[in-house]
Amino acid sequence: MSSCDSCGLPLSPKTQHDTGGTRCEPCTELATGTPAVQLAPLTERDLELVLAWRSHPDIYAHFRQQDSPLAWDEHRSWFESRDPDRHDFVISFSGRRVGVVNIDATDEVGILLGDFSAHGNGVATATLEWVCDRFADRTPLFAEIYDENESSKRLFERCGFQQQHSDGEWNHYSYDP
Ligand SMILES: CC(C)(COP(=O)(O)OP(=O)(O)OC[C@H]1O[C@@H](n2cnc3c(N)ncnc32)[C@H](O)[C@@H]1OP(=O)(O)O)[C@@H](O)C(=O)NCCC(=O)NCCS
Repeated sequence: MSSCDSCGLPLSPKTQHDTGGTRCEPCTELATGTPAVQLAPLTERDLELVLAWRSHPDIYAHFRQQDSPLAWDEHRSWFESRDPDRHDFVISFSGRRVGVVNIDATDEVGILLGDFSAHGNGVATATLEWVCDRFADRTPLFAEIYDENESSKRLFERCGFQQQHSDGEWNHYSYDP
């Protein structure tokens, strides 16, 4: 089965042919929208950048299972042993890599913009809308958001996620259109 030139996922019947390549419709909409965003599957050459992003305290402060910078060997092992149902994508904006988004095997979605200069432009919003569209067959989607993470709560709510329950510290969100 052929795959999208951008996200690398199998092409659906909703396929766009553009100059010299074939992209799925969600990727075409993402690349031609405002802001214009491109996604590509995470590769080995992205790992150093992701390590740096995820090792920044202002980023990992929002992660449930990380409370210190990542170690390179663990990061590589994680990359090589990922579940086949997990998908990680690098987010590019204005011609450079600015963050990553993923859906794991339990349909939980995670996103970060490690390039702080990309914040506040709607890049994460456009990307999360793409996830909801591209993985519509895996709904409901989920997210665990730290209660103090206001920008993330706004982001997920803007994209249609609704809070289901909270333990006061972590809020459980789902997207089930
Ligand atoms: C969560 C995170 C990705 C959100 O980034 P962000 O820059 O706020 O999100 P967006 O790129 O969608 O930008 C949205 C903001 O830009 C504004 N904006 C500007 N142009 C916009 C457009 N065209 N479309 C949508 N929003 C736009 C919005 O009003 C919004 O501002 P607000 O939050 O003050 O209301 C980022 O804060 C981050 O990486 N945090 C650390 C990791 C993290 O917490 N991940 C989530 C764990 S659950």
